[in-house]
Amino acid sequence: MTETAQVKVAAEAHVYVAAHHVKTLARQMGFNETDQTRLETVTSELARNIVLYAGEGAIKVQAVTKGKRRGLKIQALDHGPGIADIEQAMKDGYTTSGGLGSGLGGAKRMMDEFHIESAPGWGTTVTAIKWLKEQ
Ligand SMILES: Nc1ncnc2c1ncn2[C@@H]1O[C@H](COP(=O)(O)OP(=O)(O)OP(=O)(O)O)[C@@H](O)[C@H]1O
Ligand SMILES: [Mg+2]
Repeated sequence: MTETAQVKVAAEAHVYVAAHHVKTLARQMGFNETDQTRLETVTSELARNIVLYAGEGAIKVQAVTKGKRRGLKIQALDHGPGIADIEQAMKDGYTTSGGLGSGLGGAKRMMDEFHIESAPGWGTTVTAIKWLKEQ
């Protein structure tokens, strides 16, 4: 599958636009309601991080396949300050903004695949995939 959509994220309102878009796509693809909500939540966490830490960026959404499996890939892309220590940022409770520090850890737990590429001065790309449970 090739359908790709990109939502610009530069303000709090875009967080909801991106999350809603992902939820709609997830429903259309046949994800159950629990997984639709997980995908929506992960999108809003990643998009909110873009607004908070990078100021602006984008959420890219793509239907993907692996053999017979179908899934939804979410990418959060920004050219903000980057994350110097990814392992530390993934830890629950680590925050530089007085948040809960559970956004990234929670997002990883809700997805099947989760990967962060980041470097100071380059920006951050978070790639996350959820696979459909085909019957
Ligand atoms: N896109 C990003 N660019 C730069 N730093 C980031 C980015 N995303 C996360 N971080 C860093 O990683 C830390 C952990 O992020 P995480 O989302 O887990 O927690 P949080 O945003 O601090 O709190 P919350 O629980 O409200 O999400 C952030 O405090 C921030 O320092
Ligand atoms: Mg966060």
